[in-house]
Amino acid sequence: MAFETVGVVGLGTMGAGIAEVFARAGLRVIGVEADAEALARGRGHVERSTARAADRGKLTAGQRAEILGRITLTTSREDLREVDLVIEAIPEVLDHKVSLFQDLDRICKPETVLATNTSSLPVTAVAAATGRPGRVIGMHFFNPAPVMRLVEVVSTVVTAPGVTAEISELAGRLGKTAVSVGDRAGFVVNRLLLPYLNHAAVLLELGIATRDGIDDAMRLGVGLPMGPFALLDLIGLDTAYEVMEVLFDETRDRRHAPSPLLRELVTAGLLGRKSGHGFYGPQEPPKEPEKSTVITFAIDGPDVHGLGERLRAAGFRPSDDPDTVLHCTDRPVIEHAVRLSDPARLVGLHVVGDKVAELAGTALTSPRAAKAARDLMRVAGLTPVSCKDRAGFVTDALLFPYLNDAVRMYDSGYASMADIDAAMRLGCGYPAGPFEMLGYLGLAKVRDGLRALYAEYREPAFAPAPLLDQLVTAGVSEFPRS
Ligand SMILES: NC(=O)c1ccc[n+]([C@@H]2O[C@H](COP(=O)([O-])OP(=O)(O)OC[C@H]3O[C@@H](n4cnc5c(N)ncnc54)[C@H](O)[C@@H]3O)[C@@H](O)[C@H]2O)c1
Repeated sequence: MAFETVGVVGLGTMGAGIAEVFARAGLRVIGVEADAEALARGRGHVERSTARAADRGKLTAGQRAEILGRITLTTSREDLREVDLVIEAIPEVLDHKVSLFQDLDRICKPETVLATNTSSLPVTAVAAATGRPGRVIGMHFFNPAPVMRLVEVVSTVVTAPGVTAEISELAGRLGKTAVSVGDRAGFVVNRLLLPYLNHAAVLLELGIATRDGIDDAMRLGVGLPMGPFALLDLIGLDTAYEVMEVLFDETRDRRHAPSPLLRELVTAGLLGRKSGHGFYGPQEPPKEPEKSTVITFAIDGPDVHGLGERLRAAGFRPSDDPDTVLHCTDRPVIEHAVRLSDPARLVGLHVVGDKVAELAGTALTSPRAAKAARDLMRVAGLTPVSCKDRAGFVTDALLFPYLNDAVRMYDSGYASMADIDAAMRLGCGYPAGPFEMLGYLGLAKVRDGLRALYAEYREPAFAPAPLLDQLVTAGVSEFPRS
């Protein structure tokens, strides 16, 4: 089917961007809003967005005028009679979407494809409410739609053969990468991202590390564009909360139940950037640099990170009577500590990437030793992240279950490895997709880390996915790509 004219219903945050995307690709767009006031707001969104692009030199004035000229705005859905495709982007309320789709089904010609941009509602429920369930599909854009390159194309069990391919091809015409997925809550991106964000809130509530420590560890250590709390503030804590509820409803996995901390903040109206305050406040006090004193240290056991060398280069010498004893490890150190004559000095050290040092203090570690370890890491050019002596510390505890979820998702046949990787790279701006990360971390390391997490937290979902376990047992070091 040749898509030449599309309707976009709802010109809010997403719809206005989607209308712009289609118009930029040369299609004619009919944008529909609820009333004249909302229509004016929608027009304002598109005008501002294209003006910004023109200011940055991404569009000429002529191109901008052509794009705006392709968009017709109306408050009457009846104007959608002849369009080839409709994208619905009204608020996330199932009843409203169902009644809109019933109307569109009546209004539009029989071959029109009806698409929803829903993030979390079942596309099947919307499709089943129409007389053309085979021609109803999910087309999930990301915010801001003109910038983000990913579109999740959601088929249901009743989607007609060919429609998914036609819509994916159209996404390609828009300059987007389409990943093709089935109708499960959260699709790929939200299904993998939100449990990770929720888990970060759980770790914060458990006091495993501070907000800044967790954000630093994931941003600087793993290389993600932002830490989980900065991202939650950006998404909106209320939106994240609602998506978690939908995930939990479908999976009954307790990791998908919104963390009590998230609930408390949402109830208090601390919704993130949109309300000016979430995990971060409007005016964050400047971080006071901790005062360094002269520190003595010892490295106990193998120096796997070459830290002794770095510290010696900075003029520090190992000492027989150290302020802090560093033990390089990626596992809790308490068992090791209790075997020492002075366990109060022991701090576990796990370097993540080349910028972050996780410093695990046990129940016996003295505040003096913990502070000395932090000071030393700064001297060595690393950002210290103090954490409790728990399996996975911060980064592995957050990263490995996410990778495990990706393996389970792939193994269930829900999406291909390439699509899952592309979805996380393009939808979240991650430097690598989960299967790419598994490749460079090594399957055995992740499997063993998950076993340690499972043994400590007894969380069923932390048990290594059977496929991961079997590949490691078979001596395979990377996921076989077909
Ligand atoms: N905001 C995001 O980051 C994001 C990302 C991906 C998908 N989504 C999904 O996109 C959809 C829209 O979200 P949003 O953030 O753009 O919401 P929004 O509130 O910014 O915009 C919704 C718009 O729909 C209009 N509207 C409401 N009822 C209407 C009707 N009957 N007819 C025509 N217009 C109507 C409203 O006036 C409003 O302008 C939701 O399903 C949401 O889950 C949102």
